[in-house]
Amino acid sequence: MPGEIAYTIAWDAENDCIVYIDQTLLPGQYEVACCRTVDELADAIRRLAIRGAPALGIAGAMGVALAVVRSGERDPVRFREGVSRAAEALRSTRPTAVNLARGIDRVLGVINAAVSVEAAKEAAVREANAVAVEDEETCRRIGAFGAELLPEMCTLLTHCNAGALACRCWGTALGVVRSAVEAGKEVRVLACETRPLNQGSRLTCWELNRDGIDVTLITDSTAAYLMRKGVIDCVIVGADRITRDAVFNKIGTYMHAVSARHHGIPFYVAAPVSTFDPAKSEEEVIVEERDRAELARCGDRMLAPDDVAILNYAFDATPLDLVDAIVTEVGVLRPPYAESFRLIEGKGGFER
Ligand code: MRU
Repeated sequence: MPGEIAYTIAWDAENDCIVYIDQTLLPGQYEVACCRTVDELADAIRRLAIRGAPALGIAGAMGVALAVVRSGERDPVRFREGVSRAAEALRSTRPTAVNLARGIDRVLGVINAAVSVEAAKEAAVREANAVAVEDEETCRRIGAFGAELLPEMCTLLTHCNAGALACRCWGTALGVVRSAVEAGKEVRVLACETRPLNQGSRLTCWELNRDGIDVTLITDSTAAYLMRKGVIDCVIVGADRITRDAVFNKIGTYMHAVSARHHGIPFYVAAPVSTFDPAKSEEEVIVEERDRAELARCGDRMLAPDDVAILNYAFDATPLDLVDAIVTEVGVLRPPYAESFRLIEGKGGFER
């Protein structure tokens, strides 16, 4: 395995496999891992070794390509059946981030349009790579639009990791930070640790620190107090799915939105158009619930009694009326969102 890779997740054309930074090991260890089968990929996604909505979109697309190149089936019907079983296995790994399903469906689309099994193999890898390349362009555009929202000097709060590690590179919310810093703005980031899996302390702090961007780690529960003290100029987070009425993002996002509104602080979401799902409302989305061990244990150490009931939601939903702007690659959306959603639909947005 290479010592370092340029992207969080990439297709290795020489070995027909997916290489990725194993995010479960950061910040202590930087390790590049590889998935050779769909089962290995599904496991990496469930363990959050690959995570973050746009990166999941790329993983879904590359996962279908992996199923295709690994298939020894010559019969077109049985070939398609096998690929479709693999696609459904990947789709079920994480239900909340819509990008995963979008990436899977994009590659299934080109496979279904291909005239032969051989043509399907080539088209699948090409399309999966296109999903990855587009993600980088998208993040750069989100960054450029979002940077304009930030004052010349500011302290912003972010939750979870919506950075390079959650995408091919650059990031959505942290892409805005990177673009603002690149444009000469003085940005200080307050990163919430993001219990229970600590994507904020482990990943956001790691990648910003590495890029020399000013970052300070706080506990999730410190955020409201710092808003009250007037320390925070704005909040910016990513999204896993944006329905017609709510933004789904890492658990804890909603409490930051409520606190921000209470203190008159702008609350921004940065997300690609591929994260929008306006055909659905909040109630129709499955919010992933994760294993009790994430709350009850830290390694070998018990953090809760064995028999206590545990509710471990991975995401929450923030009603759109608490969101001051959504930064996308086609521009900054403002309320009323029903109207601005119609505008991006016209710009080629909203894959279904
Ligand atoms: O459970 P995770 O780590 O996959 O959750 C990720 C988030 O909640 C991110 O904020 C979201 O995917 C946006 S990433 C650009």
